[in-house]
Amino acid sequence: MAKIEARDRLIVALDLPDVKAAEAMVERLGDSVSFYKIGLELVYGGGLPLASRLVKSGKQVFLDLKFHDIPNTVARATAQVADLGCTFLTVHAFPQTMKAARGALGASPLKLLAVTVMTSYDDADLKEAGYALGAADLVGRRAQQAKDAGVHGLILSAEEVASMRASLGPAMLLVTPGIRPAGGDVGDQKRVMTPARAIQAGADHLVIGRPVTQAADPKAAADAIVAEIAGALA
Ligand code: C5P
Repeated sequence: MAKIEARDRLIVALDLPDVKAAEAMVERLGDSVSFYKIGLELVYGGGLPLASRLVKSGKQVFLDLKFHDIPNTVARATAQVADLGCTFLTVHAFPQTMKAARGALGASPLKLLAVTVMTSYDDADLKEAGYALGAADLVGRRAQQAKDAGVHGLILSAEEVASMRASLGPAMLLVTPGIRPAGGDVGDQKRVMTPARAIQAGADHLVIGRPVTQAADPKAAADAIVAEIAGALA
């Protein structure tokens, strides 16, 4: 597995209302943060040009766009994103979708992360939607299908990291949200893990939003998280 520096393991979620607020946050964080996530809210508010600007300025960008459509559309959309210079793109972990996206990457260094089962779904939601498997079994099945499709990594909750690392091996990138520094405000996240524990469990990258962006001193908060990650790697 390639060595990833502690600072590059922190991905700050730019869950902010508009590009102006996002750019102000990036400016404030300066060299403390090297990797940003742009999701659905911001992407419809100027997030793609912002992604290009961030890439030009030397940052890494995770586009959390969760593609899912017929293979032809997924392939064409992925090819568009592949030219932007971003590092990660999410797709839903349906075999057709993952294979179409993987096949459209060409020589691009863009890596695909599969969303196995949305964490807002429980067994009852899946049954209602017509699925025979419960959430845990479906996560396991789709994780294997992602590996078979040549997808580079998975988005998963911190609690799933250790078992997925054991079953999928060292090459699969495991990226986890739901991280809270010890003693931090949990907010609406129900199952949280500290940065150090998530890294020790085998996570490659941590997606962290509010503990950084809503901190009184965001730069100090990011520095503290990177230091905690570095400590867990030592
Ligand atoms: O502010 P917070 O650290 O909770 O932000 C976590 C980020 O990860 C948000 O962008 C959120 O949408 C995303 N996410 C999550 N849980 C998932 C999938 C994505 O919190 N299961």
